[in-house]
Amino acid sequence: MNREDVNLYLVGFMGTGKSTVGRAVARRLGFAVLDSDHEIERQQGRPIAEIFEREGEAAFRAMERAFIERGHPPTRTVVSCGGGLVVQPGMRETLLGLGVVVCLHASVETVLERTRRHHNRPLLEVEDRLARLRALYAAREPIYRRAGSLVLTDGRPLADVVAHVHRVWR
Ligand code: S3P
Repeated sequence: MNREDVNLYLVGFMGTGKSTVGRAVARRLGFAVLDSDHEIERQQGRPIAEIFEREGEAAFRAMERAFIERGHPPTRTVVSCGGGLVVQPGMRETLLGLGVVVCLHASVETVLERTRRHHNRPLLEVEDRLARLRALYAAREPIYRRAGSLVLTDGRPLADVVAHVHRVWR
C-alpha cells in the first residue's frame, strides 16, 4: 500500500486520546485531520447526544458507516473514529482497505478519568459509569485488538504516543 495515497485511521475506546493524538499525528505527517464525531455533528447540525436521543443509537451507527463508506475522506488524512465505529460488522475490513489502522488503548481507570468531563458520550450517561465502561470494554476489547496495531496511551506523554503511531505508519 503506497503510504502517499491512503489515510491513517485511529480507532479505539472512548477516552483513549484519538482526537488529541489524531491532531498531533496529522501535524507531524503534514496530513489533514478529520474526526468522525465532529463531521457527523456538522453534517447533522446537532450534537451526538441529541442524535442518540431523537433517532436512537442505530441511526447514529448508520451515519458513522455512511461517513466512512460514502463520505470517502480524501487521502493523506488522519481520521479519528468514534469509539463504536470499528465495532460494527464489516467496518474493520473497510478501514483496512482504505488505509492504515492504529488502535489506541488505555486502561478502564484512565478512560473513566478522561471521559468524566465530556458530554458527547450518551452511552456513559448512566448512574454507574464504571460498570458501564467495564461492560462495554469487555465486549469490545477483542474487536479493538484485531482492528489494527495497538498503541498504549496510558500515562505516556503525547510526544511518545505520536512517535509510536508514526513508527507504525512507516
Ligand atoms: C461512542 C464513542 C464516542 C461517540 C459516541 C459513541 C462509542 O466517540 O462516537 O458517543 O460507542 O464508543 P469517542 O470515542 O470519540 O468518545
